[in-house]
Amino acid sequence: MAPPGLLSLAVFLCLLVFLVEPHSAYGSSRGSFGRHNGAAASAVNGICATSVTIYGYKCQEHEVKTQDGYILNMQRIPQGRVVGGSAGGNKKQPILIQHGVLVDGMTWLLNSPEQNLPMILADKGFDVWIANTRGTRFSRKHVSLDPGQLEFWNWSWDELVSYDLPAVFDFVFSQTGQKIHYIGHSLGTLIGLASFSEGHQADKLKSAAFLSPIAYLSHMNTALGMVSAKAFVGEITKLFGVAEFNPKGQKVSIFLKSLCNYPGVDCYDLLSSLTGKNCCLNSSTVELFIKNEPQPTSTKNMVHLAQTVRDGVIAKYNYGRPDYNLMHYGESKPPIYNISNIPHDLPIFISYGGKDALSDVRDVQLLLDSLKFHDVDKLMIQYIKDYAHADFIMGINANDIVYNQIVQFFKNQK
Ligand SMILES: *[C@@H]1O[C@H](CO)[C@@H](O)[C@H](O)[C@H]1NC(C)=O
Ligand SMILES: *[C@@H]1O[C@H](CO)[C@@H](O)[C@H](O)[C@H]1NC(C)=O
Ligand SMILES: *[C@@H]1O[C@H](CO)[C@@H](O)[C@H](O)[C@H]1NC(C)=O
Repeated sequence: MAPPGLLSLAVFLCLLVFLVEPHSAYGSSRGSFGRHNGAAASAVNGICATSVTIYGYKCQEHEVKTQDGYILNMQRIPQGRVVGGSAGGNKKQPILIQHGVLVDGMTWLLNSPEQNLPMILADKGFDVWIANTRGTRFSRKHVSLDPGQLEFWNWSWDELVSYDLPAVFDFVFSQTGQKIHYIGHSLGTLIGLASFSEGHQADKLKSAAFLSPIAYLSHMNTALGMVSAKAFVGEITKLFGVAEFNPKGQKVSIFLKSLCNYPGVDCYDLLSSLTGKNCCLNSSTVELFIKNEPQPTSTKNMVHLAQTVRDGVIAKYNYGRPDYNLMHYGESKPPIYNISNIPHDLPIFISYGGKDALSDVRDVQLLLDSLKFHDVDKLMIQYIKDYAHADFIMGINANDIVYNQIVQFFKNQK
């Protein structure tokens, strides 16, 4: 039985914290965080330099400003290693790749070039753009705020829908003049689905691939899921207020450890009880992952995700009081994102795993249900029995199983 629910997110965090802590506890291994972990790194030792150009690919660092003033970092891999492979001599089609919560764009680049999604796509003749969400290590700039200020962290995934995603879409579109294929993983699927359901990006979007889709999150019957969803909404708001949620920080790790004291929560068997039992990870890649992630996000974002788990609807951030909601939305309840409103002719590819603890099969079923009026020939669904959450980004066989399908799907959208 795959333990369901997103706020296994908290479990996810626990896992990361527990895996990361032993390293930092033994001071001597600190240095092993090495170049990948450079805080506040500039473009000089950014993602292109550490993870892309070393393999012989061209890679550009870009900065993109959101309407609410955040400056986001993006990487572009404009071509494959073997130049001239551009099928049919047409202009290369742009692909935008959006990571999930608590990680950044580097998670796509931790395997070998033959196994990494962005490089595979570049080698197949696409123009690849990698997004980095606000608050993650290379996207911590703002026109007037800095990450030390609380206002910098005053956002949830609603703002990723209404500001981050439009900014990167506009930028890629302005640079390439072409409609964009979107790929999202985990929270990257939720913000895509929410955004497309509101009709955003419609004129710039060619098709969308959702890996480990997260939308409905109501199947939270694991002990830890329940505990963490409740804890996140209640305790953590009191504890942190509007602030950075940094899994590597002391405050968060103490909080997460306290969750482990709840009955039924086994923090020693986290790896499988949490993202699910990933079938196909390379242990050196996992090590690299732990050196690079997790990345900070905002507490408000975590609370919003917990609300999504608790309330079983995909809605905007709930201010917790009817009068506050009224003030923000003009309604006493937060407005919902209606997934059924995604244009029915948008080509969509969905790939989900049978062992995925964050994207539970029953919740994916609810998502598919809300897409039941989608044009049948525009919806491609793949189910991978053995896959869990991280296999989709780091699986050693993801190329054969998933990425080939994505490439085929994109190539079919002429
Ligand atoms: C966060 O933004 C809301 C408006 O969306 C505002 O009412 C609130 O005062 C802000 N809080 C902080 C700490 O900046
Ligand atoms: C696992 O990663 C290491 C280091 O990058 C690499 O040498 C090895 O070939 C990888 N194994 C598989 C099965 O991909
Ligand atoms: C979502 O929109 C569809 C029509 O597109 C409508 O039938 C359905 O009732 C809506 N759902 C909600 C919860 O409002």
